[in-house]
Amino acid sequence: MYGPLIQGKLVSLRPPRPEDAEVMITWFEDMEVTRLLFVRNPPSIDMEREWLDKMARDPNEVIWVVEHEARPVGTTAIHAINWRDGHGTTGTVLGEKAVWGKGLGREVMQLRARYAFTQLPLRKLKSGYLDGNDASGRAQAAAGYREVGRYRKDHFIGGKYVDLILTEVLREDWEKANPV
Ligand SMILES: CC(C)(COP(=O)(O)OP(=O)(O)OC[C@H]1O[C@@H](n2cnc3c(N)ncnc32)[C@H](O)[C@@H]1OP(=O)(O)O)[C@@H](O)C(=O)NCCC(=O)NCCS
Repeated sequence: MYGPLIQGKLVSLRPPRPEDAEVMITWFEDMEVTRLLFVRNPPSIDMEREWLDKMARDPNEVIWVVEHEARPVGTTAIHAINWRDGHGTTGTVLGEKAVWGKGLGREVMQLRARYAFTQLPLRKLKSGYLDGNDASGRAQAAAGYREVGRYRKDHFIGGKYVDLILTEVLREDWEKANPV
């Protein structure tokens, strides 16, 4: 599924459009962007279009394009939703380095958590980040995620193996921090 339009202060989350595939593939050309991601090689334009189409049809995925100043700068998603147990796994890529460090990631994760807990019947969002990705860890923390464990020496990055830090946010904790 594509996620509906959600307007924030710095960003809007909107459903992807076919023409987004062209800018999206350029994000994965840059090793600074992919350094701490699981996707390490750029897809072809056909692969990206197929991925967008697959995501649109999959009832267990919700994906958005992140827009800032009226241009697409990244994507965010709730993947692999398990409706029975009420959880999904979130991920974000801001592919334009020029927008990093301005609070966009934090707002994206906050808007996404609000959607998951107020518009969907999810109980928990799971995520993670590779050790050293402080911006991701802090943005997740600002949206209520906390560390619940780590897989040690899990990914080969820059010549060494780094830990994958596992995180989650529970609906009840999010509700306490975000009273209506
Ligand atoms: C990780 C990412 C989503 C963070 O988004 P961002 O817009 O750059 O981050 P924000 O500006 O919202 O900052 C979030 C927090 O991280 C901190 N931060 C930002 N850049 C930082 C950096 N380079 N080093 C350390 N902390 C940093 C901010 O101070 C803020 O902390 P605070 O909430 O305690 O004040 C974004 O940088 C990105 O997409 N990077 C490439 C792909 C990636 O790594 N995705 C995540 C995979 S788990």
